[in-house]
Amino acid sequence: MGQSPVVIEAMMEALSTYGSGARGTRNISGTSHAIVELEAELARLHRKPATLVFTSGFTANHGALATLGSVLPDCVILSDADNHASMIEGIRAARCEKRIFRHNDLAHLDSLLAGIEPRRPKLIAFESVYSMDGDIAPIAKICDIAERYGAMTYLDEVHAVGLYGATGAGVAERDGVAHRVDVIQGTLAKAFGVVGGYVTGQANVVDTVRSYAPGFIFTTALPPAVAAGALASVRYVSSHPDIRARLHERARTLRAMLTRANLPVMLNASHIVPVVVGDAAACLEVSQRLLDDHAIYAQPINYPTVPRGTERLRLTPTPFHDDAAMAQLVDALRMVWDRVRPPRGR
Ligand SMILES: Cc1ncc(COP(=O)(O)O)c(C=O)c1O
Repeated sequence: MGQSPVVIEAMMEALSTYGSGARGTRNISGTSHAIVELEAELARLHRKPATLVFTSGFTANHGALATLGSVLPDCVILSDADNHASMIEGIRAARCEKRIFRHNDLAHLDSLLAGIEPRRPKLIAFESVYSMDGDIAPIAKICDIAERYGAMTYLDEVHAVGLYGATGAGVAERDGVAHRVDVIQGTLAKAFGVVGGYVTGQANVVDTVRSYAPGFIFTTALPPAVAAGALASVRYVSSHPDIRARLHERARTLRAMLTRANLPVMLNASHIVPVVVGDAAACLEVSQRLLDDHAIYAQPINYPTVPRGTERLRLTPTPFHDDAAMAQLVDALRMVWDRVRPPRGR
């Protein structure tokens, strides 16, 4: 979407109408018509009463979790062990009690909740698609547990908005459970191809974040041109399930091609295709040789983003990568692998 004429034209038109900047913070002249429309569109997308747009997904997570964890008296936040740094920092800033449950481990989450005094407010913070392994949370089962213990749910759908669900509202939409999730957080920077982030949920929850989150209040708003581009992108993506279907088909095809070439692909049910190298120096070398010898850029992912020994290339095909492009990648990767001989997939 970052290359889409739909988005670029919307941005250019807003740029020539409103100029480059936002002029101020959200509460002091920075709330443009485009941001208001964008918030309404995102609320429609997620079928929630209210949405608050931030300058990034990071500040949305940070601001919302720090606020909710501090305004709810004696709150305990239960956080998945693999949560993104923006959630971890937000929870830290909340200065409330935090308990970490093992990644996607329902029994562990249940046992932690069972040990918390029932009257205390509880919030479960987790993601839908985890970006490094590409695995997906059992959202419905987490909601079952949350309902049993009277806990709120906070779901980061950064790697899912635009990509999953009939209208691209994320995995919660795909699984038919969005109405059971209290707060959904997303980014405008990945599938939507622009920049910015948001939280969406009940009006009183969103208004609480609006009223207290320093990362919302004390920073210049998204410029109108950026908001207009994001708005055009959200509208386009939500009404084009065909590009979503194509993206998932491309990811399945790439995974099958890599498997046939005997390359160590990590299996998961998402659009993220990790190829495990298993060593930091080898990972860097594989990536560098792909670039130098084959003019292909694939990001090397090393510690601390992933645990040591699981260093990897993280491949994410777009709907526009055709079979020929993917065959070229797989052939190049096979050649580089045979030369570097990393610990995995020799
Ligand atoms: C899971 C997750 N949440 C939040 C963010 C932050 O989003 P943004 O890049 O829009 O700040 C990221 C990374 O970019 C992420 O991977």
